[in-house]
Amino acid sequence: MRLKDKVAIVTGAASGMGAATAKLFVAEGAKVVLTDILEDEGAALASELGGDARFQKLDVTSEADWDALIAETLSAFGRIDVLVNNAGVSGSHPDVLNTDTWDEQMNVNARGVFLGMRAVIPKMQEGGGGSIVNISSISGLTGQKFVHMGYNAAKGAVRLATKAAAVQFARDGIRVNSVHPGLMPAMRTSMMSSDPEVRRKMTNAVPMGREGRVEEVAHANLFLASDDASYITGIEVPVDGGFVAQ
Ligand SMILES: NC(=O)c1ccc[n+]([C@@H]2O[C@H](COP(=O)([O-])OP(=O)(O)OC[C@H]3O[C@@H](n4cnc5c(N)ncnc54)[C@H](O)[C@@H]3O)[C@@H](O)[C@H]2O)c1
Repeated sequence: MRLKDKVAIVTGAASGMGAATAKLFVAEGAKVVLTDILEDEGAALASELGGDARFQKLDVTSEADWDALIAETLSAFGRIDVLVNNAGVSGSHPDVLNTDTWDEQMNVNARGVFLGMRAVIPKMQEGGGGSIVNISSISGLTGQKFVHMGYNAAKGAVRLATKAAAVQFARDGIRVNSVHPGLMPAMRTSMMSSDPEVRRKMTNAVPMGREGRVEEVAHANLFLASDDASYITGIEVPVDGGFVAQ
């Protein structure tokens, strides 16, 4: 039970890696608030996970939603120990020079992560510490052919905001790290990377020769969230089958 009695918030928890993370955290003893814009899917998963899980609707771009989430979490569980800033929208857009995509990427994938840190850090300071795991991507470390540059820029912003927050709040006992998944099952919003031919090329470019499983990212999130990582802050953890080692 690596998260026994810890209270965790997971964003984008109705699907993919967020759902896998919420499930693993409950199995490891945490009380988990699953959040997403997908209310039906999120509420169904929370009820499947039992009494230690609850769902609250949260659009990560809304400060009002974050305020309501913090109030609800404190009233239900009394404290906040862990935030996994996982919600995101895909950058695999066919028009790589589209301005609306740039704006959406910055709003959801970068600003959404900042708003999450902004919301929980004061509560973690009051509570004596905490752990924040920000989900970036290999796209936050390198450019790619099939990805809108706004996705790379937003995920790069997550990487460096993580390091800034780690430095600024280390003395409060708050650790902040980033996880960088590689080729994973397509996101709900994926366009190019859902195409089988594009996916075949992307898979060939992975040293391990396969895509990752959502649970493999959830385990990295668990390690960083838990006290096993008590002297680790400000780092970036690729979970990518060796992609960025090339
Ligand atoms: N799938 C990949 O190949 C891959 C690779 C690297 C990084 N990532 C990152 O991992 C994270 C999880 O992605 P996934 O693969 O599980 O995708 P997914 O599409 O299955 O899940 C993303 C979740 O985020 C939610 N979401 C989207 N916009 C939101 C908003 N404004 N507010 C709240 N929730 C919102 C969606 O409803 C969805 O449930 C994302 O940050 C993504 O950028 C994904």
